[in-house]
Amino acid sequence: MPFPLRPCVLALTLGLAACDQAPPPAEPGEALSAGSASVRQADQNAFSQPSANLAPSRRLDFSVGNSFFRNPWVIAPSTTTARDGLGPLFNTNACQNCHIKDGRGHPPQPDASTAASILVRLSIPADGSPAHAEQLQRQGVIPEPVYGGQLQDMSIPGHAPEGRVRVRYEPRLETFADGSRVELRQPKLEITRLAYGELHPDTRFSVRIAPPMIGLGLLEAIPEAAILAGADPEDGNGDGIRGVPNRVWDDARGETVLGRFGWKAGQPDLNQQNVHAFASDMGLTSSLLPHDECTAAQADCRATPDGGVPEVSASILASVLFYTRNLGVPARRDVDSLAVRRGKQLFHQAGCQQCHTPSFTTAAETAEPELANQLIRPYSDLLLHDMGAGLADGRDEFQANGRQWRTAPLWGIGLTETVNGHTQYLHDGRARNLLEAILWHGGEAQAAKSRVLDFDAEQRSALLAFLNSL
Ligand code: HEC
Ligand code: HEC
Repeated sequence: MPFPLRPCVLALTLGLAACDQAPPPAEPGEALSAGSASVRQADQNAFSQPSANLAPSRRLDFSVGNSFFRNPWVIAPSTTTARDGLGPLFNTNACQNCHIKDGRGHPPQPDASTAASILVRLSIPADGSPAHAEQLQRQGVIPEPVYGGQLQDMSIPGHAPEGRVRVRYEPRLETFADGSRVELRQPKLEITRLAYGELHPDTRFSVRIAPPMIGLGLLEAIPEAAILAGADPEDGNGDGIRGVPNRVWDDARGETVLGRFGWKAGQPDLNQQNVHAFASDMGLTSSLLPHDECTAAQADCRATPDGGVPEVSASILASVLFYTRNLGVPARRDVDSLAVRRGKQLFHQAGCQQCHTPSFTTAAETAEPELANQLIRPYSDLLLHDMGAGLADGRDEFQANGRQWRTAPLWGIGLTETVNGHTQYLHDGRARNLLEAILWHGGEAQAAKSRVLDFDAEQRSALLAFLNSL
């Protein structure tokens, strides 16, 4: 079947003036990805700004939260009592070390001694016992019995890091209809120097880079009904795209709720996500998670003195929550350029918007008033999709199966290189640029990817111009 845009492109190449599919002008306000929370900054600090509509009097609270996100935590006991208690096992000593400049992490360099800014999740299949059933309900996974739910490759003195993480790559070729080729790299995880014995023989692994921190309070403020309205678990409309919500445990409420955060939407809200980050990534306890991530098999880890009970006080947790809710989203660049408008048209013609939902309006009642009633353009439906075998981690997380991932929000993605100095995308950073990220799409996104494979060079560059304007 001929691709519907071809006649238009042909008309343009032949220099014909009329093209009935000329891209429409940008929509009013389209540049403001986060409504009045959008930030007019496009430099290397573009992801670190408070929402533009945050009142000056509240910017101090933002800065206080920022300091706990950025500054390193230290080993207890210490004179820095507010920020001690690191470890005994941890991945790194500050949130910002993974969420680099409030942006994304990247896979480790071949010679790196630790794997920051990624983490490796571990779990084993459930055995059907009531104990496992309860664990699945509350944790979404059965953690590896000795190493727990996450591999910590750092430790305080006197303790052994759990192991060392490396990622190797194997090439995989994709060919466009016009004959041009792209070599993709398929990651292979290697864990060495295991300090606490063998891993369970059925251990499942999931490598994840730290995602960007922008606009998270706005994603939290999308009404649940609006997200669920996009779900189509049985593919009732026959478009090949399902989209299912994850359903996860809410530690504070003690019930199962909609999942929104993390690469598989395994966390319900920002506070719980932050609490789990403190505990699993830095070995810091809080009132919601009062124990370090030490398993029963790690007696030394359990016996280590801590930095107070809890190590992260309620007020620090509240500061960090305020911070993570109020990082603004950069306004778009070049929305009016012809290439960007053509790219947007191609984005829709390829069917990308079937999952990368262009816009939502946030709820009227929200945690902070600045987050309410905003027309936002996150380019995500926050739902899970089967992305095919190529991207699968083979590991369930609550309702998400081993082939499903949450649609990654695309806002701000064009500033990744400026902010983070790299362009490594997807949950494990395997894609080295935006085109590679698209070419890894499979499963429910196979049809969209196939349409991109039919694009010629001009169409591909227009699509990328659009993505880079986000
Ligand atoms: C070792 C690296 C690392 C550290 C340290 C880290 N994170 Fe993360 N963070 C991640 C990864 C990886 C994810 C995705 C997790 C997933 O898919 O389940 C994530 C996800 C998040 C998210 C959800 C983002 C989204 O788009 O869904 C928030 C919020 C967050 N982290 C906050 C924090 C806070 C607060 C801290 C410090 C207390 C912190 N993180 C420390 C790696 C890290
Ligand atoms: C079936 C749903 C679906 C469709 C259709 C789809 N995507 Fe995605 N997209 C996803 C999911 C899910 C992810 C996250 C996958 C992962 O990290 O493994 C993603 C990730 C991405 C990323 C990387 C984001 C990041 O933060 O690393 C880009 C870029 C992207 N998609 C662009 C596109 C474009 C362009 C199209 C259309 C050609 C498209 N997508 C079609 C679901 C979809």
